[in-house]
Amino acid sequence: MRLIIDTDPGIDDALALALAVTSPEVDLLAVTTVAGNAPVEEATDNALRLLRALGREDVPVAAGATRALVRIGMHNQPSPHGENGLGGVELPAPTRSLSEEHAVGLLASVLREAAPRSVTIAAIGPLTNIALLVAMHPELIDRIDKLVIMGGSTGRGNITPVAEFNIWSDPEAAQRVFACSHLETWLLGLDVTRRSTLDETALAILEARSHTGSLLATMIRGYGDIQPDGWPMHDALVIAAIVDPAIVRLQTAVVEVETGVGVGRGQTVCTLSSSLTASVGSAAPGTRLAVDLDVGRFRDLVLTRVAGLAVA
Ligand code: BDR
Ligand code: CA
Repeated sequence: MRLIIDTDPGIDDALALALAVTSPEVDLLAVTTVAGNAPVEEATDNALRLLRALGREDVPVAAGATRALVRIGMHNQPSPHGENGLGGVELPAPTRSLSEEHAVGLLASVLREAAPRSVTIAAIGPLTNIALLVAMHPELIDRIDKLVIMGGSTGRGNITPVAEFNIWSDPEAAQRVFACSHLETWLLGLDVTRRSTLDETALAILEARSHTGSLLATMIRGYGDIQPDGWPMHDALVIAAIVDPAIVRLQTAVVEVETGVGVGRGQTVCTLSSSLTASVGSAAPGTRLAVDLDVGRFRDLVLTRVAGLAVA
């Protein structure tokens, strides 16, 4: 499938890019960047370096939003992605330059050339660029097959007790995207992405196969977000679900985002369609929420694809 990745690399973003470029089903049309795990300049530099390491400097990269639409989030937790966003791993500098277009411009130019419902967008950072796209180019939404988002949680958060980082970073943007009723959206939240882990055994396999696999394993070991059964590769699950939808179980839901400034800011309130009430029944109908995943199938896909990396 034809794919655009909107990203803020990010260690799990790095694995998502690696999975995309090693999956023969994926035709990667563009990578756009957004401020999130790192300021947008650094996230963009990381994206360019990662694509060089992955042997895909032909994929256009454009830098996007430097900050959230309305309020800049403030927290005092150190980034789990380390100081440079890639767990301290220094990748060689890119040998090509960045697109001169803004990320939203590049997204629009790719979509403008596309047939209806022919492009999938993976949104694995804050949703600022995507909100700007739907606000500025509503005429291009019909070109999007689906938008697959890593974000939110129906329970515990990871940046506040109730909010997940990508949604919390720009709740107004997220609310704008979920309100886009004619866009099919899949939401993969912490409920499933916390379980899409790689453990030390998986990293040893990655490491043994190629220099790039070894760099990825080093990055992942430096990821400060660790669960009892390994490092959760939140963003890689998005690409895995696009490549092999049987990895996740989806249910139609209405998703609303708390945009108040209190302790609930950034929380995703998800109502499965089976329990819709009149009060939320008028919200966007096009969202499918991931409610379960096949962890074994996810790990197999990542290892078969990424550990088979042929590049240096
Ligand atoms: C999300 O936040 C970022 O830190 C990760 O890259 C992922 O996109 C997980 O909450
Ligand atoms: Ca990310």
